[in-house]
Amino acid sequence: MEPMEKEVNSPGPPDDSLDASMQFLPDSEAKKMENTRFACRTIVVTVLIILAAVLALLVGLLVWHFHLRTEGRVKKVFSGSMTISNHNFLEEYEDYNSVQFKELASRVSKQMKGVYSHEPILSRYYINTIVQAFSEASNDTVVAYYLSEFNVPVAKASAVNEAIKSIEQDEGSKQGRKRLGLEHKPSNSLLFKNMMSGAVDARMVNSNLRGHFKNAHHARTGETGFIQSPNFPNSPYPPNIYTEWQLRADPAHRIRLEFTALNLEKECQNDFIRLYDSLVPTEKQVMVEKCGYYNPTEQPMYLSSGNVMLVTLVTNGEKNFPGFRAIYSQVPIEIQGCGGKLTGMNGTFSSPGFPSYYPPKIQCVWDIEVPAGKHVRVKFNKFSMREPGETPNHCPKDYLEINNHRMCGEKPANTVRSSRTNQMTVKFFSDMSYVDMGFSAEFEAFQPNNPCPEQFQCDNDVCVDPKLKCDGYDDCGDMSDERDCVCSEEIHVKCKNGFCKPKYWWCDGVNDCGDNTDEENCGPLCKTWEVPCRNGRCVPEHKKCDGHNDCGDGTDESECPRSIVLSCSEYTYKCKNNNCISKQNPQCDGEQDCEDGSDEEDCDCGTRPYKSSRIVGGEESSEGEWPWQVSLHMRGEGHVCGASVISSLWLITAAHCVQDTEKFKYSQSDQWEVYLGLHTQHHASEGSVQKNLKRIISHPEYDPKTYDNDIALMELDSPVTLSQNIWPICLPAATHEFPAGLDVWITGWGQTREEGSLATVLQKAEVRIINDTVCNQLMNNEVTPRMICAGVLTGGVDACQGDSGGPMSSVDPDSGRLFLAGVVSWGDGCGRKNKPGVYTRVTKYRNWIREESGV
Ligand code: ARG
Repeated sequence: MEPMEKEVNSPGPPDDSLDASMQFLPDSEAKKMENTRFACRTIVVTVLIILAAVLALLVGLLVWHFHLRTEGRVKKVFSGSMTISNHNFLEEYEDYNSVQFKELASRVSKQMKGVYSHEPILSRYYINTIVQAFSEASNDTVVAYYLSEFNVPVAKASAVNEAIKSIEQDEGSKQGRKRLGLEHKPSNSLLFKNMMSGAVDARMVNSNLRGHFKNAHHARTGETGFIQSPNFPNSPYPPNIYTEWQLRADPAHRIRLEFTALNLEKECQNDFIRLYDSLVPTEKQVMVEKCGYYNPTEQPMYLSSGNVMLVTLVTNGEKNFPGFRAIYSQVPIEIQGCGGKLTGMNGTFSSPGFPSYYPPKIQCVWDIEVPAGKHVRVKFNKFSMREPGETPNHCPKDYLEINNHRMCGEKPANTVRSSRTNQMTVKFFSDMSYVDMGFSAEFEAFQPNNPCPEQFQCDNDVCVDPKLKCDGYDDCGDMSDERDCVCSEEIHVKCKNGFCKPKYWWCDGVNDCGDNTDEENCGPLCKTWEVPCRNGRCVPEHKKCDGHNDCGDGTDESECPRSIVLSCSEYTYKCKNNNCISKQNPQCDGEQDCEDGSDEEDCDCGTRPYKSSRIVGGEESSEGEWPWQVSLHMRGEGHVCGASVISSLWLITAAHCVQDTEKFKYSQSDQWEVYLGLHTQHHASEGSVQKNLKRIISHPEYDPKTYDNDIALMELDSPVTLSQNIWPICLPAATHEFPAGLDVWITGWGQTREEGSLATVLQKAEVRIINDTVCNQLMNNEVTPRMICAGVLTGGVDACQGDSGGPMSSVDPDSGRLFLAGVVSWGDGCGRKNKPGVYTRVTKYRNWIREESGV
C-alpha cells in the first residue's frame, strides 16, 4: 500500500494586489478655500480609516481562512470490513499482488465511494478507500477489509464519526439497505453484509511513520510458521515503522498465536504490538495491546474468533528494542470443554483454550450438579478477565456469571464461590474486543453443616490450615484468618486495629497493619508540628527546605526540590570541590547539583540495554538484564561465587569467597576463571567473555568469624570490552541512602533452595531492605554497621550458597540507574521466615575502593 499520509491541499498565497488601494489620493487644487481644504482632509482621513478597517478585516479573514481552515484539518482513517455475500472466494484473493485481488478491490472501492456519497458530510471530505485484504468466510463467501481516508475539519470530526456509525446501522432499515446497494441494486453490484467500521488508532496514522509494511501468511493444519519484528533478534527494530502481519487459516479454524519472545519499549505510547480479530486495525476488534518485556515463562498464547488475525507493530523515533517473535498455527474452531454438564463429587473446568487467552466472541455454560444434600463450591486457581478502561463493577464486557451474579476483573488465586443447593450454573462470556487469560477452576461438593472439615473456615468460604490463623499473613485473602488474634509480645507487633504482625515487619517502611501502627515511633519522637532529623533531633516543619541546615546533619534540607550548599556531614554528598550539597543521592541523576558538575561525572554505569518492565512470577532473568553480574569459577570446580563489574578492569566480590581452604587456594588469582556477560552456565554465548585475574585485594579487616568487612576487589589481567552484555554497575557515594522498605534486586547462580542445587540460568529476585534494628533482633545481634539486610516478608525469597560476592542492585527511582547497594555475604539458612539475607554495605567502602582501584 501507499504511505498512509496525504498532503492537505492548501489554497494559494494571499493576493498582494490589495496593497495598491493604500495609495494616497492626489492633492487637489491649491487655490481651494481653507475650509474646503479642511473638509477634503476630513474626507481623506475618513476614507483612509475605512480602507484600513476593510483591509484589516480582509487580512483577518484570510488568516482565519488559511490558518484555521487548513491547520484545523485532520486526517481520519476508518477501517472496516464486510461480507460480500454474492461473490465466491478465489485463492488468489489472499495475494494482494494478483490480478484477481486488484480487480475485486477496485470494485469494492468504487462501491464504497457510492456508499459514502449518500451522506453529504462523508462525500465532502472523502479521499479514498483502499482494500487491504480479503479472506474466505466459512460459507465460501468473501470478507473484504478496507481503510477509508477522510480529510476533515477538526470541528466536523465527531459528525463524521457519527455518519460512519450510521452507515453500519443502515443494514437494518429499508432506506439504509438502499444506500448500501442491497435493494434495487444494479445487477453486477456486490452485496455488502455485516459492515463494521471505526476510526483507526491515532498512533497508527501518525505522519512520522515511514510507510506501511504488510506481510501475509496462511496457516496449514499440522504446520507452524513464525513471524518476527524486523531485525529480530540481533538488532533493535527500526524507528517510526508501521508493520503488519495478516494471518489466515482455513475456514472453520482459528489462528493460534504464541509469543516466544517479546521485548519492546516499556511505554506503549511509543512502541506497541496490537492483535486484532480482523485483518484491519478496527478499534472494536482489538484483542490486546502489548509493550515492555515478557519473561519466556509468561509468553501468552492467543486465539482468534474466526479464521483471521492481524498483528501490528508500531514504533516511534526513540529507544528501539529487540522486538518480538511469535509462532502461528491453525486449530479447529470447536474448542473442547466450552460448557457442558459436570457431575460427581469434584472436577475441573476452565475458560475456552486455557492456558491460551480465551478467544473473542464466545460463550460457554456449565451446569454443575453434585449429589443431593450437598452444596457446590467452586475455587478459582486463576481468574483474570480484565478490559482496559473498565472498572470491574457491572461487568458489561467479558464476565463469568455464577447463579446470576457476574464476576470480572482480576481475582486472587483461591477465590471461592459456593451455592446453597446441589446445583450451580456457570456462564462464561467474552465480547468482541480485548481478551485475557480467563480462569481455571475446581468444583467440589461439601457438607453444608461442615464446610471445612478440620480446617479454618474463612469468611469468604475458603478453607485454610488452622496453623495459618493469626500468623500475620493474609491466607484467606479477606484477612478473616488474621482477625480476633491474641498477639505474642515476643514475635508480634500489636496493631491498633487488632491484627498481629511479625516483629520482622516493624519499621520496614511498609504499612503492614493497615493502620500504620507498625510504622509509628520508628524515628525519633517528634511533635506533630515537627519533622525528625536522622541525628535524632526534631525541627519545626517550616524549617524544612528553608535553605538553612537546622538539623545540623542537613537532613531537613536533603529532600528538597533545590539543592543548596551546606556544611558537610555524614548525610551530605561531597562534590569534588569539597562543597557539600543537600540533595539526597544526587549522583548521576541527570541533573547537575554540584557547582563543578562532579555529581554527574563517571556516569557510564548502571544502565542496561534492554530494561525489563514487568516481572510476574518466574525468577529467570533475561539475557543482558544484569550486565554487571559475573560468575567466578575455581579451576576444576566450576561456579563458586558471584561478583560485579565496576569498570572495564575491576570487579567487586565478597572477601569470604577469596579465603584459602585446605583444598583450594581461593586467594590466588591464577586459580580463578572469570565469566562476564554470562547468562547460562556451561553455555558460552556470543555476548560472554572469559577472563583471567591479575590480582585479588581482600579487605584487610575482613573478619572470617563475624563476616565483618566482607568485600574484595579483583583486577582483570586486561580490560574487558564493554557491551550490551557486560556493563558496570554504579558505585554509590558514601552518603547514598538505601532506606528500609526499598525494593532491591538480587541475582546469581546460587542454590535455588537451601540444600538445593545451583541454578543454570541466572536467577533474579526482588527483596526489600530491612530496618537495621529489626534485622539485628532477628539475627542475634550479629549485624554490624557495615552490613545491610534485605529479605522478603513471607520467606522463600533470598540469596543462597553460590550467590555470595554477587550484587544487590538498587534502581534509582529518578534516573533509573542501578547502584550496587550490597554484596551477598551471609544468612541463616536460605529463605527462612524471619531470616533476612545479610549483605556487605557498599557505601562504607567507597573510599577504600577508590584508593585501591582508582574506580
Ligand atoms: N555465604 C553464602 C555464599 O557463600 C551466601 C549466603 C547468603 N545467604 C543468604 N541466606 N542470604 O554463597
